Amino acid sequence: MSLIDEINKRKTFGIVSHPDAGKTTLTEKLLLFGGAIQVAGAVKSNKIKKTTTSDFMEIERQRGISVATSVMGFEYRNKQINILDTPGHADFAEDTFRTLTAVDSAIVVVDIAKGVETQTRKLVKVCRMRDTPLIFFVNKMDREGLDAFDILDQIEGELGVKVVPLSWPIGMGSRFKGVYNIYEKQLSLFKPHAKQSESETIIIKDLSDDALVKHIGEEDAQTLREDLEMLTIYPDFAKADYLSGEICPVFFGSAVNNFGVKEMLDCFVDIAPPPLPRQTDVRPVRPDEPTFSGFVFKIHANMDPKHRDRIAFLRICSGEFKRNTNYLHVRESKKMKFSQPTAFMASQKTIVESAFPGDVIGLYDSGNFKIGDTLTEGEVMRYTGIPTFSPEQFRIVENADPMQYKKFYKGLDQLMDEGVAQMFTRTLDNKRIIGTVGALQFEVIQYRMEHEYGARVRYEPLRLYKAAWISGDADKIKAFVARRKRDIALDKKGHPVFLAETQWTLNTVKENHPEIAFHFSSEY
Ligand code: G4P
Repeated sequence: MSLIDEINKRKTFGIVSHPDAGKTTLTEKLLLFGGAIQVAGAVKSNKIKKTTTSDFMEIERQRGISVATSVMGFEYRNKQINILDTPGHADFAEDTFRTLTAVDSAIVVVDIAKGVETQTRKLVKVCRMRDTPLIFFVNKMDREGLDAFDILDQIEGELGVKVVPLSWPIGMGSRFKGVYNIYEKQLSLFKPHAKQSESETIIIKDLSDDALVKHIGEEDAQTLREDLEMLTIYPDFAKADYLSGEICPVFFGSAVNNFGVKEMLDCFVDIAPPPLPRQTDVRPVRPDEPTFSGFVFKIHANMDPKHRDRIAFLRICSGEFKRNTNYLHVRESKKMKFSQPTAFMASQKTIVESAFPGDVIGLYDSGNFKIGDTLTEGEVMRYTGIPTFSPEQFRIVENADPMQYKKFYKGLDQLMDEGVAQMFTRTLDNKRIIGTVGALQFEVIQYRMEHEYGARVRYEPLRLYKAAWISGDADKIKAFVARRKRDIALDKKGHPVFLAETQWTLNTVKENHPEIAFHFSSEY
């Protein structure tokens, strides 16, 4: 197959949701359709369970298992579908943000009863930074929840996207009868726990067709007709608008009942983008360029503390990656070759001879890689668009064992490269500040420093609202940094950040310094 055919065959995407909306269940149903797993429960058992929030060792163990499901690939209607798994646990949101830089599109799962939730908001915001095409799946229609129009309003109002419903629910909860598939003009009747092949689908091109009343009754038929008439307030579906991120198709269903999932998958296969060109610091790179390039978006530590090797996940962006071939590690200016590049397909790991744009492979790494690193065939360029986000919790970290300061710094450095947390150095006193999304990471760092590096850490509490990256005219930045010395730190790349104690401080400083721009992500 030619490179172009390989590229056009691939659809690489992520599924995101607030915990419990049904991401794992939906993933599992998609894998069942693709024949990648045979029984339900295979993915579920790898899920980081919500009940173990205080038991971080258990979470780390489960994260170890979930390496195997980092990329779940399967074939469906002659397409190679790659689902990049994102941790559902809110404390690992940074992992999810980074994984989203490696996808070409995403599916957002929303619970009809809960509507748009905190994590949904954050994750959609990250997707919107890159105009990632989004499809929404409104889940749990077998339960009572918000009115379908209200959920669309909420998605538009809270997430700042335009929606186009492509299926429409008939009733909900115990009165849920099915969905009308606007995209295919057919009615799918709901049967709890049906295998998709058993669910009844009736083609109804015209809603005045008697068949409609026969299947769902006069009252629901009338409501459906009225609802669909009201839907004309939404724009018509145009694939180009979806691809540019302007509109988001919405489907309704029930993942656990495998209902409405196939409709969405079929539409996804038709419309979702193949691997797209990506930006580097020197030029955009097209996937069909003959030379290989890719970037590391995630690093996972080996779960065995005796071996400190890690797995770096590489997204291929152009050309063909080949095993045992010399490639340039751009940041380190050195050539590297890989004898065991690994593909993670559902529960199996296999060594691959070659991989194509859109694919993700795992590279065994003994400490060479950092998140964001680029590999090429020789060209010096770096993929951009892999930002870090302002953490939400902060602590000062100190070496608790003066005899082991080397191990302390080495351990911290490596854990930060892996993206476990972010580190800032306060300019005033050179103290190191660790910033995380969730409190759990502090425990993870403490544990891993001790067990993997033989170093002990001590934390000091630090009350901060945000760390905001600052930009502006170089002289003005210099003056601002000198004036606010107490509140300035440097990130790992040496860029200045403003440490705001409260939202009020941040707002006041913004007002007093209109010459400085403040950012909540490192790429601005
Ligand atoms: P997540 O990955 O987004 O965190 O969610 P997950 O799929 O684990 O689903 C969370 C809960 O919601 C699960 O129940 C799951 O069975 C249920 N669920 C998923 N889809 C639907 C649906 O369409 N309708 C209904 N009623 N429930 C749904 P659980 O009790 O937490 O787990 P389990 O014991 O069922 O496995």
